[in-house]
Amino acid sequence: MTASLPTPQTSDDDWWRSAVVYQVYVRSFADANGDGVGDLPGIRDRLPYLRDLGVDALWLTPFYTSPMIDGGYDVADYRDVDPAFGTLADFDAMIADAHALGLRIIVDIVPNHTSSAHAWFQAALATAPGSAERARYLFADGRGADGELPPNDWESIFGGPAWTRLPDGQWYLHLFDPAQPDLNWRHPEVRAEFEEILRFWLDRGVDGFRIDVAHGMIKAEGLPDVGFNSMTTGRRQSELLGKGRLPYFDQDEIHDIYRAWRPILDSYPGGRMAVAEAWAETPQRLARYIGPDELHQAFSFDFLDATWSADSFRKVIDTALAEATIVGAPTTWVLSNHDKQRHVTRYGDGEVGLRRARAASLLMLALPGCAYLYQGEELGLPEVLDLPDELRQDPSFLRTGESRDGCRVPIPWSGDLAPYGFGPHGSELSWLPAPATWRALSVAAQTGVPGSTLELYRSALRIRRGHPALAADADGVTWLAAGPGVLAFRRGAGDAELTCVVNLSDAPVRIDGYGQPVVASTDLTESDGGHVLPVDAAAWFDRR
Ligand code: GLC
Repeated sequence: MTASLPTPQTSDDDWWRSAVVYQVYVRSFADANGDGVGDLPGIRDRLPYLRDLGVDALWLTPFYTSPMIDGGYDVADYRDVDPAFGTLADFDAMIADAHALGLRIIVDIVPNHTSSAHAWFQAALATAPGSAERARYLFADGRGADGELPPNDWESIFGGPAWTRLPDGQWYLHLFDPAQPDLNWRHPEVRAEFEEILRFWLDRGVDGFRIDVAHGMIKAEGLPDVGFNSMTTGRRQSELLGKGRLPYFDQDEIHDIYRAWRPILDSYPGGRMAVAEAWAETPQRLARYIGPDELHQAFSFDFLDATWSADSFRKVIDTALAEATIVGAPTTWVLSNHDKQRHVTRYGDGEVGLRRARAASLLMLALPGCAYLYQGEELGLPEVLDLPDELRQDPSFLRTGESRDGCRVPIPWSGDLAPYGFGPHGSELSWLPAPATWRALSVAAQTGVPGSTLELYRSALRIRRGHPALAADADGVTWLAAGPGVLAFRRGAGDAELTCVVNLSDAPVRIDGYGQPVVASTDLTESDGGHVLPVDAAAWFDRR
């Protein structure tokens, strides 16, 4: 299987422009030591699987020293590996093996906030209001006669006030959990520290960074009120994410930070890149994060949020491609990640959801630009909706009742008993339980099975890598006339053409004149020399 995989057609430095990046949620991918938590040696063992799947790079969620209040997005030491995940030596061994297999490694960097267990925050707590130690974070006095009210009306993304009061009367800002205090990015020491952290991991050989809350580090001067929140009006401020302006997100000054980071990335050989997890009011404002003097990519969450309709997808694809052309950077598509309900479930769950998810994946993988896959989507995993409340660990669950644990259940690899090969042979531990239905969805159960979701991904990724119409420099998309509810577009031209058709209508459609299907999300039937594409299905056609 491996020998026949074509090599990517991009130059070394531009590898990210058309790469397929596989997101590894470290604690749920593979557990080498049998403690029920995924780890770096587990990833290292499974690298051949990822190489054979046909992805170009891995993005690893945070594996740094952390009290794990927010699954590692609460970092206590940015230069070390948490013992639950392994050691720095394990990291070095993993990245060396990955590179030897031709896989690149992107790591998560969490600059908006540290853990409250970080030495800087501990020093801030140990000193008096107004200290130099407190200046690295956002401490403020409260409002009201005795400062008993928070400094402003900001709301945590996880629900509740974004401020917590200390026994000495001062408040500190945390846009997420109270265990994730926000840093003061107007402080030169904070900027210098993160530039050093970037270098630390670049020196260890990482190929890029995924920047957590990349839109959040700068807060509007004077910390002005938003004007409403769920405590006062019942309307949550987070409703404005990606739709409106908030004084704590997407401030213009944030771009100074990335203009300082870019030369650091560029000073290393081999195309080191950065992708922003950024939310902005409009696609135009999102596009400001990317370009030759800032970041390489920003996730297009509008694509992930699109509803199951041809119009909805067409609109977000056109907008994202137009913005990408303006800034000269490729679009970055994503359908699932560790924060969002898995797309099988978003599109209707069960059989319908799976059919649509498979079709959406073929749509995404046919588009120009870079695609991010989330571990388990290649197995067609659904969201686990019935986890017992007492097992849920997402900090937002306690505050809002919303939980992201259902997309974080450990991956089923093999065998008949849960957790299906997540740990070493015979290990029964996993930090979240896998449902019994996942026995049939494991990697082993799907490998070599024609029509399985895993084999669909393998085929699509192999074609994507080898087909000249999908290669890095092939032009954008040419939309083709198709019936209502049907998306059809061509990539490439002349001898090197590939057509992707997705049927989002409620009736089968006849496809003629685009050549033979090379991969399809479901079986097509032939009729009078043409093909019939069923409802909720997608296929790629090649005339060669
Ligand atoms: C990002 C992460 C999410 C985390 C939050 C706070 O949105 O993707 O998992 O909870 O940042 O760091």
